[in-house]
Amino acid sequence: MKKTRQEIITNSADETIAFAKKIARNLKPGTVLCLEGDLGSGKTTFIKGIAEGLGLKHPEQVKSPTFVLMHVYKARIPLYHFDCYRLDETSEFENIGIDEFMADPHAICCVEWAEKAAGLVPLTARRIRLKIVGGSSRLIQIF
Ligand SMILES: Nc1ncnc2c1ncn2[C@@H]1O[C@H](COP(=O)(O)OP(=O)(O)OP(=O)(O)O)[C@@H](O)[C@H]1O
Ligand SMILES: [Mg+2]
Repeated sequence: MKKTRQEIITNSADETIAFAKKIARNLKPGTVLCLEGDLGSGKTTFIKGIAEGLGLKHPEQVKSPTFVLMHVYKARIPLYHFDCYRLDETSEFENIGIDEFMADPHAICCVEWAEKAAGLVPLTARRIRLKIVGGSSRLIQIF
């Protein structure tokens, strides 16, 4: 099993956002982040922090792109946001070319429920796992 590179327990959504902002500082264009964790564990909240850290002017626009499959945020580095939750077949994502977006060397890609599109995710993707460990406590692990 791969070693955890970094882990933290946050006790509020704001703490998760603050942690993600720090992570965003070191992200290079071309990075793919796969967010794993149960419903409500904070995947979208974490991505909001990434967007803030990348200088997005209105991070409140960061919401799960459940019905449109994808959002593009114009941050310092373009940020693509996918949510595969409603995905039944990977072909749906193949059709919109998620693999091409994930291969974009000029953008950062965040994918919620990437497990559902596993075959399309590049091997170089970083995994971020969020776990509810109490009312508003989340264990966040970066692999
Ligand atoms: N420590 C915490 N970190 C992140 N979110 C927290 C924390 N404590 C409470 N919350 C709350 O939990 C919820 C997390 O929702 P969010 O939409 O980010 O989860 P999600 O993992 O994207 O869910 P889904 O699987 O439905 O997309 C928010 O309402 C947020 O305010
Ligand atoms: Mg979400």
